[in-house]
Amino acid sequence: MNTSAKSFDPCLPAGGRRAGTGFGQTARKDFWWVEPLCVAVGLGLFGVYSTWAAFQGNHYFWGPYLSPFYSPELFGDSPHALLGPKPGWWPSALPFSPALLILWMPLGFRGTCYYYRKAYYRAFFQNPTACAVGKPWTTYCGETEFPLIVQNLHRYFLYLAIVVLSFLWIDGIKAFTRAPGKDYIAGVGSFVLLFNAFFLTMYTFGCHSLRHLVGGHLDCFSDCSKSKLRHEAWKGVTCLNERHMLWAWISLTWVGASDLYVRLLSMGKLTDLKLF
Ligand code: FES
Repeated sequence: MNTSAKSFDPCLPAGGRRAGTGFGQTARKDFWWVEPLCVAVGLGLFGVYSTWAAFQGNHYFWGPYLSPFYSPELFGDSPHALLGPKPGWWPSALPFSPALLILWMPLGFRGTCYYYRKAYYRAFFQNPTACAVGKPWTTYCGETEFPLIVQNLHRYFLYLAIVVLSFLWIDGIKAFTRAPGKDYIAGVGSFVLLFNAFFLTMYTFGCHSLRHLVGGHLDCFSDCSKSKLRHEAWKGVTCLNERHMLWAWISLTWVGASDLYVRLLSMGKLTDLKLF
């Protein structure tokens, strides 16, 4: 009998709640609950707003500006649509919004991000509640079973996120053009969309998986030219990775604000400030 295979059970009780340690009990004296509370409020607000905005299906563009929630617009009624209007095969029972076709890619990327996993496991699932704080659960299965095993798809969501990001850069550059209704080159909205692409780049290229991709499978960075290049790339990704949480929150806030800005312009509730 293979006893080594039997000896590993990922769902055995783990150290999160020791005997006599109830949910929320801790010897910690600091304000450990502030961070998960802020995460719950921040992610909760973003989740509610982005879901609402994605299902609207309107007011997502103004002149050359396209909301990042709707980019790339594959099918839709705006001049930004790449493949034409709403496709005939779309089920009539389902509401149509161009955002629903593409938003799963950046959401999948963020949802499986190592930083966000830590943040929302604590904020929403109390698993764990915090370091050295009693949690409500007595078992721990890690990410070895469905549904959490899908977190291992993060690397593939990274590839998709880079494709989406390249479209957002095109949107950021196109925002500096004239178009019907916008007879100037640059307005505040141009910089809103350009900074959106920049902040998302800082977040995406600080990804832990990318760090493994560029620096993995090497015992050391030798002096051959290929490894030197990889070493430089690894140092760049590592530099961003050290501030991954910061870029995660800046880019999340900015992408939501960018959609809101374009939406308010489209609804006529806001006027784009002309710069040059
Ligand atoms: Fe956060 Fe990959 S670890 S984006």
